[in-house]
Amino acid sequence: MSSGTPQRVSESGFPIAPVYTADDVPAGLSLGAPGEYPFTRGVYPTMYTARPWTMRQYAGFGTAAESNARYRQLLAAGTMGLSVAFDLPTQMGYDSDEAIAHGEVGKVGVAIDSVDDMRVLFDGIPLDRVSTSMTINAPAAVLLLLYQLVAEESGVSGAQLSGTIQNDILKEYIARGTYIFPPKPSLRLVADTFAYCRAEIPRWNTISISGYHMAEAGASPVQEIAFTLANGAEYVRAALAAGLKVDDFAPRLSFFFVARTTLLEEVAKFRAARRIWAQMMREEFGAVNPKSWMLRFHTQTAGVQLTAQQPEVNLVRVAVQGLGAVLGGTQSLHTNSYDEAIALPTEKAARLALRTQQVLAYETDLTATVDPFAGSYVVESMTDTIEAEAVALMQRVADFGSSVEAIENGFQKREIESSAYQIAQQIDGGERVVVGVNRFTVDVEEPYEPLRVDPAIEAAQVGRLTRLRADRDDAAVRAALESLSKAADGTENVLYPMKEALRLRATVGEVCHALRATWGLYQPADHF
Ligand code: 3HC
Repeated sequence: MSSGTPQRVSESGFPIAPVYTADDVPAGLSLGAPGEYPFTRGVYPTMYTARPWTMRQYAGFGTAAESNARYRQLLAAGTMGLSVAFDLPTQMGYDSDEAIAHGEVGKVGVAIDSVDDMRVLFDGIPLDRVSTSMTINAPAAVLLLLYQLVAEESGVSGAQLSGTIQNDILKEYIARGTYIFPPKPSLRLVADTFAYCRAEIPRWNTISISGYHMAEAGASPVQEIAFTLANGAEYVRAALAAGLKVDDFAPRLSFFFVARTTLLEEVAKFRAARRIWAQMMREEFGAVNPKSWMLRFHTQTAGVQLTAQQPEVNLVRVAVQGLGAVLGGTQSLHTNSYDEAIALPTEKAARLALRTQQVLAYETDLTATVDPFAGSYVVESMTDTIEAEAVALMQRVADFGSSVEAIENGFQKREIESSAYQIAQQIDGGERVVVGVNRFTVDVEEPYEPLRVDPAIEAAQVGRLTRLRADRDDAAVRAALESLSKAADGTENVLYPMKEALRLRATVGEVCHALRATWGLYQPADHF
């Protein structure tokens, strides 16, 4: 066994020994080759030696035209895929001119009301060559169809499109909050989207099952992967119940995790997550296509670990976090900008964040060989521990009956809140060092000029909507929304009538209102 008295406890709460030896890993350690079941060493045989991970910086604010300009800058600076941030009204399925949207238009992301805005957002960007991720959940199907409509206008077919919609509603109930409908119709919409993409946009990653937001809310690494993989199993069950075959949709499920500064444990976490998913998909769900077993994931560096004090120190934190993601075998990475604890990133900060990834990919030797930590006593031992603890926690979720039932009982939320409380206490007590906050502080912080979103954006967006409603064939839009409501009330795949309504220039809000009227709204239970 590992020698020495444990001096530290990991983020997941297990002790870290001062020294690990061969006795800490199973005799004759057999990890399997990279690209082979259970994929401990990564999902592809060649990993970054063939192609580095996708550098995919989450961005978007203000109007579609402003965000388009930022995407073009990012592509010119060497980013490899796009990642769209939508404003809160869009994420909640409201139009920019609704009272509830007031004050939020274009704030935390771009405002998209209709196909007209989507056209501007991707103007001049070759959608057959760039893969696009969209952080959109409750109305994910709506935004995906708008993207497809715009691609088709420029002669790019669904078969040529690649990208990801987040579409992970379960974690919205647990940690992020942008849900609209109750779980049952939400899961039906997810299953409809899986079926639609299989037929119409086969290379699209239909969901990004996310632990990131739970981690930002305080989840430990074990909680992060356990709750995420349990949600993953719930989506698989929902799709199977809707009549889909596991190998018809599982190859296009993807994941999204955080990378914290505790690098060794994070590397172990990624490796353990791959192993648990592969085993579950093969053994429990009977998938036979190796692609169905692969846990492919995006990583974002931990926003919650960034500090408003001495913000340049965040550049260093992000480099360490990004390194952990790469050593853990991520497929795609967002490195945070150093000013994100203060406001939306400035152009310079966004560029530096991307440069951090470029240094990792092109100046270090990380891409020369696959899974450099394989066989490391500490990392292998931590991988086994995290795997065992995560499996045990997934069982506690399963004991409620399902992820949804655990959510309805407030289980995941309570567990995460208790971890968050512990972290806050440790920071307050000085037991957990945060450089520049509770140690190594300075008396006077340098002034910092954050990027501000122009408040005039809301009026401009409202004006665009007024013009759109005056220009389009309203009777045709009403009839199309009626067909959508009928499909929602029955069993027909809702994405086909939804696409027709959007093509006729129905707005995001109108489509979501039609669904709200049929499916109702999610009401969290009292204990939340
Ligand atoms: N050998 C063989 N093939 C390889 C290879 C190798 N070594 N490396 C890559 N490839 C191939 C892949 O097979 C793939 O081909 P395919 O499309 O035919 O399957 C292609 O090259 C692209 O590679 P990846 O699939 O590995 O990388 P992508 O970047 O395309 O996809 C993903 C990565 C994780 C699967 C995908 O789901 C993704 O891009 N996710 C991003 C999610 C994201 O950006 N989310 C942002 C969230 S921000 C947020 O939530 C906001 C807030 O609240 C914080």
